[in-house]
Amino acid sequence: PVVAIVFGGRSSEHAVSCSTAASVLRAIDRDRFDVVPIGIAQDGRWVLVADDPEPLQLTADHTPSVQGDTTALLSADPGAREVMVFAPNEPPRRLTTVDVVLPLLHGPFGEDGTLQGLLELADTRYVGSGVAASAVMMDKALMKVVFSAAGLPVGPHVVIADKEWRRDKAACLDSAASLGMPVFVKPARAGSSVGVVKVDQPADLEQAIETARESDPKVLVEAAIAGREVECGVLEGHGSDPARASKIGEITVTGDRHTFYDFEAKYLDSDAQLTCPADLPGEVAEEIRRLSVKAFEAAGCEGLSRVDWFYEAGTGLMLNEINTMPGFTPSSMFPRVWAESGLDYPSLITELIELALE
Ligand code: DAL
Ligand code: MG
Repeated sequence: PVVAIVFGGRSSEHAVSCSTAASVLRAIDRDRFDVVPIGIAQDGRWVLVADDPEPLQLTADHTPSVQGDTTALLSADPGAREVMVFAPNEPPRRLTTVDVVLPLLHGPFGEDGTLQGLLELADTRYVGSGVAASAVMMDKALMKVVFSAAGLPVGPHVVIADKEWRRDKAACLDSAASLGMPVFVKPARAGSSVGVVKVDQPADLEQAIETARESDPKVLVEAAIAGREVECGVLEGHGSDPARASKIGEITVTGDRHTFYDFEAKYLDSDAQLTCPADLPGEVAEEIRRLSVKAFEAAGCEGLSRVDWFYEAGTGLMLNEINTMPGFTPSSMFPRVWAESGLDYPSLITELIELALE
């Protein structure tokens, strides 16, 4: 099959998506799949890019981005499933047909149902969740509504909508402060901790909310949850089989440069350690796996998701979030937990593509 690997995109996680794509370009089984790498530049242009992972890797010294000027378009002819390439000033020329799209995009305009809607319109198969699950799981406020309705444990939080903030800041600040301190202030629709601020005193709330609003006018304020950060990978089942949960991974952030698992700790330095399997009582690990599948199903996810939890002995489990297109970078948890569960990186990619082709 021909696989279009789409990455980059208009969100603040552009560079993370490039890094995810670099890892997938390295790992994908070339005997099995023909690859068409398509980058979405930060301004939204779709371009054909070289099949070369090297320049796409995110490091402390290099922030990758999509470059190129050969416009690539997916044909919107339902049933045709073609990728058309339009070179500037030339008549359209068909490059190849595509069997499946692997949308390796994180954040808005990619992980949020917009790209998925475009692919539905084009009648093109793609890896991962559909429009509704992608959109709702991109929005940390809506996500909590779904989780609460499903009886999953969700922490205390306050949503600050754009109009509320513009109408009555004082009331918004009061309501956020009522959660107690510390809190995390987050853009509702973002990822990789971009725009997230930990606040230890009410006097710092306003500035934190303004920072989050630079990423998204809808803001979420969450009471800080005590506990260990543990994550579980979920894969859709084949046919009518139930979804599968991976072994549990744990994140620990060391050193005093970070007050939480922020962007730098995630991708740029070595202060975050991933452990898998996490050192947890067997019944706790089993409960996380069971509830991760429950969250995946409650949200109507397809293909894959990473489900993030807080665990504290005595208090129990609190669901943090679902990521419908988790990172696949060298420092990402999702490929790691599946490798520990018996699915190495190339097999994981094959599995995702085969699920989409079913
Ligand atoms: N949003 C990032 C890519 C993650 O969840 O892994
Ligand atoms: Mg996230």
